Amino acid sequence: MIGDCAFQVRADDERQAQIGFTLSPTSQKQGYATEAVTGLLNVLFGKMRLHRVTATCDVENEASVRLLERIGMRREARFLESVWFKGAWGSEYVYAVLDKEWSRARCAADRCAEAGMGVGRTPGVGAHLQSRSSRGARGLRGTRDARL
Ligand SMILES: CC(C)(COP(=O)(O)OP(=O)(O)OC[C@H]1O[C@@H](n2cnc3c(N)ncnc32)[C@H](O)[C@@H]1OP(=O)(O)O)[C@@H](O)C(=O)NCCC(=O)NCCS
Repeated sequence: MIGDCAFQVRADDERQAQIGFTLSPTSQKQGYATEAVTGLLNVLFGKMRLHRVTATCDVENEASVRLLERIGMRREARFLESVWFKGAWGSEYVYAVLDKEWSRARCAADRCAEAGMGVGRTPGVGAHLQSRSSRGARGLRGTRDARL
């Protein structure tokens, strides 16, 4: 096992979920997390027909911010000093993506593939999504896990 990604459906709304992910240090920087999280979103919006998926990360977690923006999630909020973590107050970003935004991204990726344009190294991620400090992960509690 090289890491995990997980989702938690909101207790008050079963069409919304939060995701989280972690890779072992030796498996980072090879695209595995991007591929796994893209696959997870495909399942959540495809098979599970969710409406909105969110992810929360520490503002200093640059690798996670890059990953979330690379796969096309939008930064929706910044909560100042919202969490007590390793002896200090930390601030957090909330990222989100809607089902219609995810389908548009998938369609664009498919069009690029049909036109023979490179769409990046990660299946399911559109070329236009390939935009280019970790204080560590705070795992989701009570989640369903997918081992990588
Ligand atoms: C967040 C985390 C999973 C991101 O891991 P990551 O290795 O940066 O992400 P990926 O596996 O998708 O790899 C993408 C990186 O590999 C690079 N890469 C190298 N070879 C690649 C290849 N063949 N294909 C795709 N990407 C490749 C990409 O350019 C990218 O680097 P960049 O972010 O510097 O631009 C990891 O930092 C982690 O586990 N951190 C601790 C836990 C954590 O913070 N979890 C998130 C809580 S919200």
